[in-house]
Amino acid sequence: YWLVPPFSSTASLPYDDEQEGLQDQIVIRFSHVVAEHTPKGLAAQKFASLVAKKSNGKMKVEIYANGTLFTDEEELEALKQGKVEMIAPAYSKLTGFIPEWRVLDLPFALPNDKAVEEALQGKVGKILFSKLQSFHVKGLAFWENGFKQVTNSVRPIVQPADFHDLRFRTMPSDVIQEQFRLLGAIPKVAPFHDTFRELYYQQVDGQENTISNIYSKRFYEVQRYMTISNHGYLGYVVLMNESFWNRLTSSQQQVILEALAETTTWMKIHAKIINEKQLNEIIHTRRMHIHWLTDEQKREWLNHLQPLYDRVRRQVGGQLMNEVLRIQQ
Ligand code: LMR
Repeated sequence: YWLVPPFSSTASLPYDDEQEGLQDQIVIRFSHVVAEHTPKGLAAQKFASLVAKKSNGKMKVEIYANGTLFTDEEELEALKQGKVEMIAPAYSKLTGFIPEWRVLDLPFALPNDKAVEEALQGKVGKILFSKLQSFHVKGLAFWENGFKQVTNSVRPIVQPADFHDLRFRTMPSDVIQEQFRLLGAIPKVAPFHDTFRELYYQQVDGQENTISNIYSKRFYEVQRYMTISNHGYLGYVVLMNESFWNRLTSSQQQVILEALAETTTWMKIHAKIINEKQLNEIIHTRRMHIHWLTDEQKREWLNHLQPLYDRVRRQVGGQLMNEVLRIQQ
């Protein structure tokens, strides 16, 4: 027998707009690639409920998590084409389009939470946001996740020499790829979506990520060693389709800005708590050997990474670079 197609034109859908009296409802499709119980996943949900509340249901955020709608390779293009209205990619994923954003990928440039805050909320953030205009996307906020840690399945990584010839999955960022090369490893760019599979089938030996991503995507089940290196910060930039933003009334824009401001404040506290809690969960599984990198060991890594600082200075210009170095001190 034949099944009736669920979307036949004669069918009266349960969520038919006119039936619900919501024909004027503004729908914001928000696509992201991580799991729901991560800082970004939870922030997206909080943002959606704040938008619904502040607009009395006149605006609705539909969330598509886990890359179900678009992978991280596709989401920027999807945003620009208006296939979704909102995304929040890791800022490393903008570095191929807007070179100045590379400054945030410099290893050990922002060594602690205070430095991250100062960079993103201060002059560095302002300069980077201004570069989004010519890229024709509306930048709305920075969201936090946490510092990246290094995992692999071959050997404990303490000294730079331990990276020798290991293959690491990276985000599509020149700076991150060069970081691994300078440490003696072999980078391989792959979408976040494929990372577990790459690790599982040993297409790569390791990867770098925040604890929440290592935990929620179960990388810890297929990786034996983790180094708590805090060598780079993984944060997000919340982006909206520019013409969609421009079509909103100023009170609708206000709803979004207020909901985002509250979510961003919430995230500042909770991203840290989530990462700490999930590190404890990983420790309790006893599946990984974990090494906490000492300051002395960090300095050794940084010595190998120095050429990257000169290279990024040439790419982003002295003003941004000097500002980051000032914050690093
Ligand atoms: C990654 O690709 O490793 C991360 O950017 C995923 C994410 O969005 O946190």
